[in-house]
Amino acid sequence: MELTPIQLFYKGRSVLVTGATGFCGKALLEKLLRSCADVGKIYLLMRPKRGEDLSIRFARLLDDPLFDDVRKDMNSVQRKVSLIQGDLLETGLGLSPQNRRELCQEVSIVFHVAATIRFNENLKVALQTNVIATQEIVNLCKEMPLLAALVYVSTAFSQYPLNEVHEKAYQPPDDPRRISDTVKWLTEADFTVTEPATLAVRSILKSAAVRLIQTRTTCGSSSLGK
Ligand SMILES: NC(=O)c1ccc[n+]([C@@H]2O[C@H](COP(=O)([O-])OP(=O)(O)OC[C@H]3O[C@@H](n4cnc5c(N)ncnc54)[C@H](OP(=O)(O)O)[C@@H]3O)[C@@H](O)[C@H]2O)c1
Repeated sequence: MELTPIQLFYKGRSVLVTGATGFCGKALLEKLLRSCADVGKIYLLMRPKRGEDLSIRFARLLDDPLFDDVRKDMNSVQRKVSLIQGDLLETGLGLSPQNRRELCQEVSIVFHVAATIRFNENLKVALQTNVIATQEIVNLCKEMPLLAALVYVSTAFSQYPLNEVHEKAYQPPDDPRRISDTVKWLTEADFTVTEPATLAVRSILKSAAVRLIQTRTTCGSSSLGK
């Protein structure tokens, strides 16, 4: 059967997905496994959680009814999926040097889906997860000679004061670097954000991450500026 343009794009290319255990990421993973038979490796950046290591978490993920079709060919899943331990809260995404090297050598397409979506998240955790880790992903992508696409998943909540949000890039309320620098010198006590402020804070951080993607990459082109 003739491949579709999308299947052709993925043919032989390896993909890195962050956030595959989450709501959006699992739908993306299922679609890649079900519809792109010729995709290369699919690397999933995951963290151990609640005493479960990566393989247990992945087995649990595959148990979801969403993967009913995909589970019919477990050989293909095992051949394609490679679990990579990482954590957005750690420097360098918590990647081992060996894993980082492999990702840089092999990956052509990056989907950065992982994020904290809690409205009442600790400010420091939210900054590290949604903004600083996004910068880390951009840095990683810059080390990938085969990179064809970096896809960052944002949210309509990145523009909270607007009643209507269109499919276009908006300016953030402040420079992402200034936001990071400010948060760095705040004390733990300052991180307890009061309830009415949380939507605004989350929104500003998501908006800062979008700005970071816009300014640290060459948007609309295949090349990431160094
Ligand atoms: N849900 C929607 O309807 C929707 C719509 C539009 C846009 N979005 C955007 O899509 C993105 C993902 O949303 P979602 O709904 O899929 O969220 P979700 O279900 O909460 O999933 C979040 C994902 O991020 C991962 N993650 C969080 N912190 C991490 C860390 N420190 N290290 C490694 N991985 C970490 C989680 O892994 P663990 O399992 O290890 O926690 C999980 O896989 C967000 O940016 C959100 O704003 C969502």
